[in-house]
Amino acid sequence: MSSSFSFPTNIRFGAGSLQELPRHLAALGVNKPLIVTDPGLLPTDAFKSLEKISGKKWAVFSGVHPNPVIEDVEAATAAYRTGKCDSVIAFGGGSALDVGKVIRICVKRPDKPLIPFDFDADWSGLAPCVTIPTTAGTGSEAGRSSVIIKDGRKQVIFHPALIASLVVLDPELTRGLPPKLTAATGADALIHCIESFTSPVFHPPCDGIALEGIHLIEQSLARAVKNGDDLEARGKMLVAAMMGAIAFQKDLGAIHSLAHPLSTFCGMHHGTANALCAPFVMKFNAERVPGLYRRVGVAFGLSNPEDAATIEHVSGLFREVGLAPGLRAYGVKESQLDAMSEQAFEDTCHQTNPVPVTQKDLRSLYQLAL
Ligand SMILES: NC(=O)c1ccc[n+]([C@@H]2O[C@H](COP(=O)([O-])OP(=O)(O)OC[C@H]3O[C@@H](n4cnc5c(N)ncnc54)[C@H](O)[C@@H]3O)[C@@H](O)[C@H]2O)c1
Ligand SMILES: [Zn+2]
Repeated sequence: MSSSFSFPTNIRFGAGSLQELPRHLAALGVNKPLIVTDPGLLPTDAFKSLEKISGKKWAVFSGVHPNPVIEDVEAATAAYRTGKCDSVIAFGGGSALDVGKVIRICVKRPDKPLIPFDFDADWSGLAPCVTIPTTAGTGSEAGRSSVIIKDGRKQVIFHPALIASLVVLDPELTRGLPPKLTAATGADALIHCIESFTSPVFHPPCDGIALEGIHLIEQSLARAVKNGDDLEARGKMLVAAMMGAIAFQKDLGAIHSLAHPLSTFCGMHHGTANALCAPFVMKFNAERVPGLYRRVGVAFGLSNPEDAATIEHVSGLFREVGLAPGLRAYGVKESQLDAMSEQAFEDTCHQTNPVPVTQKDLRSLYQLAL
């Protein structure tokens, strides 16, 4: 069977690139966008700069929760209809971007439930959508999926039609992102690059993108956490996050399967959950596939890129940016591990882990990360 490689996302990058938005909307032929965002963004300078461009004339839905739920999608879809909108500006972190991207599906087919998602229906001609990230982590702005919680589980809605019409990567917008969130979202971007590179799917273009993403994160994550005004570091992190999401077209691994229940059961931030589980999964994988992380270590610029040194480097980077290990500190209880490992095993990400994992393995990995 042949392989398919596709990189169709249209991206504008640069400090101040948000200012070009009216021109892009005109080119898309739209004039009544709905801004989809979350309440935490409203007081930020990032949101104020968008408001200035809109002249406060565009409709706003700001009810997206972190780790968004299906009710957020329903409410945002209702706002789109009430506002008689013709397009979406998804503005925020992965949560706002995921909701903004996916409401176009609900707008097109109000007769269908979003989940379970009907992949084979005709999803051509969705409303235009501009995605504008204000975190540098998920890369959702460039991806073909949205992650929404329904029935207590993170469900991935995936379709090439979900790709945004345009991505605007403006490092001015991540300038005010607090250090803790800069670290946690940056960790997500790094794990996307590492898990996609080491997943066994055949996709050399994605492998190359993942390695360059790791290199950019090595150069810029700690800098962006220490000095939020470092626009060069902020820009490199935005680019790396976008690259991580392009790379994980290849799929992810067991770290993400462990992270998803930590958000649904314990409300943990997605990137933090990934960071706290990552070193244990990497060690588990390297014990079974020696040399797995050697090229990851090379991308970090390590002189001795052996597995153990590479894993220690990742742990050290997370400690440096304040992501201290230990799930207990985030309220995770041992009594939750059985139910969480059951949900982690049902999550599909681990199917492309470099080595197969059982539910028991996932339980042991949670125990180690506790
Ligand atoms: N679609 C995908 O491909 C994909 C990939 C990975 C993760 N995700 C999903 O994305 C979500 C996580 O997204 P996230 O990590 O970006 O966090 P988030 O969107 O949940 O935002 C976290 C917090 O940061 C605040 N914030 C965002 N930008 C800010 C700024 N510039 N200044 C100040 N505060 C700001 C928000 O108000 C919010 O309170 C999860 O639901 C996860 O499952 C999706
Ligand atoms: Zn992720």
